[in-house]
Order: sequence, then structure tokens, then C-alpha cells
Amino acid sequence: MKYPCIKTSLPGPKAKELLEKDKKFVSPSYTRPYPLTVKKAHGMLIEDMDGNIFLDFTAGIAVNVTGHTHPKVVEAIKKQSEELIHMSGTDFYYAPQVLLAEKLAEIVPIKGEKKVFFGNSGTEVVEAAIKLARYYTKRPGIIAFYGSFHGRTLGSLSLTASKAVQRKNMAPFLPNVFHSPYAYCYRCIFGKEVDNCKLECISFIKEFLFSKIAPPEDIAAIIIEPIQGEGGYNIPPEKFIKAINDLAKENKILLIVDEIQSGMGRTGKWFAFEHFGIEPDIVTIAKGIASGLPLGVCVSKAEIMTWEPGAHASTFGGNPVSCASALATIELLEKELISNAKEMGEYMLSKLRELQKKHPLIGDIRGKGLMIGVELVKDRETKEKAKEERDKIVYKCFEKGLIILGAGENSIRFCPPLIIKKEDIDIGLKIFEKALSDVEKEKGYK
Ligand SMILES: Cc1ncc(COP(=O)(O)O)c(C=O)c1O
Repeated sequence: MKYPCIKTSLPGPKAKELLEKDKKFVSPSYTRPYPLTVKKAHGMLIEDMDGNIFLDFTAGIAVNVTGHTHPKVVEAIKKQSEELIHMSGTDFYYAPQVLLAEKLAEIVPIKGEKKVFFGNSGTEVVEAAIKLARYYTKRPGIIAFYGSFHGRTLGSLSLTASKAVQRKNMAPFLPNVFHSPYAYCYRCIFGKEVDNCKLECISFIKEFLFSKIAPPEDIAAIIIEPIQGEGGYNIPPEKFIKAINDLAKENKILLIVDEIQSGMGRTGKWFAFEHFGIEPDIVTIAKGIASGLPLGVCVSKAEIMTWEPGAHASTFGGNPVSCASALATIELLEKELISNAKEMGEYMLSKLRELQKKHPLIGDIRGKGLMIGVELVKDRETKEKAKEERDKIVYKCFEKGLIILGAGENSIRFCPPLIIKKEDIDIGLKIFEKALSDVEKEKGYK
């Protein structure tokens, strides 16, 4: 079968009807970059309501790691839903939740015993991590980073510092949250290059936060994305993440690593923090964990997760069907998908680097496994952000049948399902290159 295959104008007639109803009844707070109305999806392909077929390089925002409706995942969901759909792990016991906790304790690389708290989403387990860190340390403060995204409920939103619109009119936020620069080296705010960097972003924490407004004895946790997702797919140098780890340990501050976007095999390892050789105290995981069913987990060292019964819980958290789906997902990741993410990620990166040689709009390319960001600039010297061009490229890709998403103000993220093959990458990148060339021509870039 030849794919993608666009047969109608976009949006097509059925899609248009749905969009009208959506406009009337659905919250306008969602940010849809183009009118994709999904009817069904299998593997790497999505079919819209008018029968158009798209190639998916988003995995539903880094969620469908096993591809859409993987038969093994569907089988696990069917089997579990015939036996038990809900009983609430907050008050009762059921095997899928306990088995998943056992499995997570095995795969999350923190030494010693571990415990797992179950929620339904990313933001919910970030809330759990904040509460756990405060409960355990009895300290109020949290340090987070500019460019970070940790969720949109009020606790996690207080940590999120990605786009102002996400916070506009939402104050007041949690007190005692302090933000510090992330090592976004392509645009170092201290004006440094990689070879003359003295980790000024770490000095900032010591000299401006710790010594002036946030005494370390008052800080419960530092929360960090080992690779920033929503903020632009920014990969920091190893020395930055290691220094954060050391800073936390030296000051008895807990280190929370947010793996909600970067975890579950996406970067070619179970978790992105493994690329940096550190050991967090708490890890938050969601998105890819259950191949699309709602699930989030907060995994912590057992000696930290000592809160008493009643301290925290969630009615639906760790639902049996979601847990069964997660167990099937983990088996597939273990068998082949993590190594495929590594191999295909390297292939995709090398192909994108070839495109960079030909296309002036591409300023920077960064990636680990299948978490790849392409930052677009109007000029490679000034690095002026090509925001409008980015949005046009994303739209043109949609019109040509490739589904991609932006990240940050002027980057494109590639986070396809981890089942992707070379052939899919070749097809997708050909469309991407055409969109890139079209926009370059329109805007007069040479
Ligand atoms: C790193 C990170 N943390 C937290 C969240 C919030 O997850 P959710 O949308 O499931 O609440 C996201 C979502 O994009 C994320 O990328």
C-alpha cells in the first residue's frame, strides 16, 4: 500500500462537519496546529474521517510507543476489560497494579528498593512527586528550570516555565518555586560556547538562588527534564545534569527526574537520565507507558515513599486496564522496541543532518533515539527564530500527509512510534524536505 495518501482537500467534507461541532462545544484552549480528524489508526498510519491516510511522526505526542493499536496491546486490553475494569487501587487490591509496580521497580534504574504511586496522567504524577518531596523532607521549596514543561494543573503549572500563555491569568501559583536557566546550549543565556562554558547555569543556582533567595535547607526537590520536551527538545550536556545531581545530593535535596516525555524507551534507553549517569530519587513517567491508555506513575526510592495511608491517592489511578496495557507495552519495548528506537533514531538523525547541509532554515539538530528536535532559524549567524516558517512547514507536512508537531517557539519535534522502519523515515523526511524547500522558496532563502 502506498502511503501517505491524501484524496480530498483538507479538511475534507466529513472533517469539516466535525470541526464545526468541535468549535461549538469543545474548549477553545486546545492548540491544534492543523485540522486532523482521526477516525482510526494502526501502526504508523492514521486514517481521517474522509479516508485520507497520514504517516504519524508524533505518536499522539510521544504516547503510542508501540504504534497505534498494536495487536498485543489490544489483546491485553480486551482480556483485562473482560475480567475487571475498575475497582480503585486506593481501597482495594488487584493483580495488574501490583505486577506493574513490580515490573517498574525492575526497569527504573535506581539502586535499592522502590515504590510506585499510580495516577492517570503526567501532571497528576508531578503533583504526587511535589507532595512526596515536601512530605518526606518537610521543606517547602522546589527548584525548576526555564523552558521546562511539567503539566498544567496548578502545582505542576507552578513548575512549568515553557510558554507564558500557559500561565496567563492563572496566578497565584505555588509559593517557594524558583526557576533557574536550563543548559540550552544553542542559545546559552550567558553567551557562552560549549568550549568556554563554565557551567554558569549551575553557578546561578549556587550564587543567586541558594545564597540570596532560596536557602538549600528550605528546598525539598529539584525537578528536571533530562531532555526538555515541550520547551524545544533541548539536550543538555552531561556535565550539567551531573552537576544538578551532585548539587541535590550535597544539599540533601531530592532529585525528581521528569521522564514523562523522554521515558519508556524513546531515547534508546528505558529512561533519558540513563544517558547522563545519574541517580534520581523520584522519577515521573506517563505518556508512553501504556500505549495510549491513561496512566502516570511516580516511582521513588522506597525509603522516601513513606507517607502514611490517606496521605495521597487517586480513584482511577492505576486502573487495571491501563496497567494491563502497560505490562504489554513494557514487554514489547523490552523485546525489540528500545533497540529499534536507538537504531532508527541514529538513522533519522543522520538523514536530518544531510538535510541541514542543504537547507539554510535548519539551525540546529539534536536528538537521542527517537526524540529528535530540529530548530529553525531565519539566519544561522544571528539565530533569529523562524517561528512563522516553522508553523508553515508543520502545516504543509500535514497537507502532504505527514503528521509532525512543533516544540518550543521555532523547533519541530520528531517523536514517532518506536516501531518505525527506515522506509517510513525515508518517506516522512522526503515530505519534510519538500515542505522545507517550499517555505524556503516562498520566503526567498537561498
Ligand atoms: C515532561 C512532561 N511532564 C509533564 C507533562 C504533563 O503530562 P500530561 O499532559 O499527561 O498531564 C508533559 C506533557 O507533555 C511532559 O512532556
